[in-house]
Amino acid sequence: MKFFLDTASISQISFWKKYGLVNGVTTNPTLLSKEGNDAIKVIKEICKIVQGDVSAQVTEKDSKNMIEQAKFLKSIHKNIVIKLPCTLSGIEAAQILGKKNYKINITLGFDPSQLSVFKNINITYFSFIIGRVEDFGDNNVEKIPAVKEMIKKLNNKIQFLAASIRNERQLIAAAINGADVITVPPKTWEKVYNNKYTLDGEKSFMDSWNELPIEKRKKYEIKK
Ligand code: E4P
Repeated sequence: MKFFLDTASISQISFWKKYGLVNGVTTNPTLLSKEGNDAIKVIKEICKIVQGDVSAQVTEKDSKNMIEQAKFLKSIHKNIVIKLPCTLSGIEAAQILGKKNYKINITLGFDPSQLSVFKNINITYFSFIIGRVEDFGDNNVEKIPAVKEMIKKLNNKIQFLAASIRNERQLIAAAINGADVITVPPKTWEKVYNNKYTLDGEKSFMDSWNELPIEKRKKYEIKK
């Protein structure tokens, strides 16, 4: 299983890379827009610092223009994966680009049934969106096993990419139900590694430790 970082922030990529949590990066128009810089410059910079797939999403609406834009995006770097929406236009573009062996990440997948058409289309990733659905009070965690099963039955070359991960519960559900890749926003990793009980536990150990007189703990501690 791999972890991608769901961001376009160079500083966040550099930070989380140190922990081995950046096997690739997924961007989207919202994430690129948040950076407020020239989008192509940002994508190039990401490709420079990441050894792995970097998804760049099309911003065109009809399939002909998506294909045109995909050609250009692909030319930026060998690791670029073209991200296409799971709309009828996106699917048409995937049919053409798949035949030309482009690496494709189908995004905005909200239901396992949407995988049906990819039985015969050459795509690399199917992004199944989890957190965004819960923002609206629905639940996509329960559909995760069906995504895995559908991929197995239809076209097991497709990698199951779990996306829009807002919390620990969604991350665990994706991991234990066979996601090949989980793309995690930096905010979620911050939450995971600032676990309240871990931080409280560390503080409580230190408070107890400091109750021991200094001469009785000084040999145990490093000299500063
Ligand atoms: C997936 O394709 C997107 O990049 C991303 O995971 C969506 O996340 P969001 O729901 O936080 O926008």
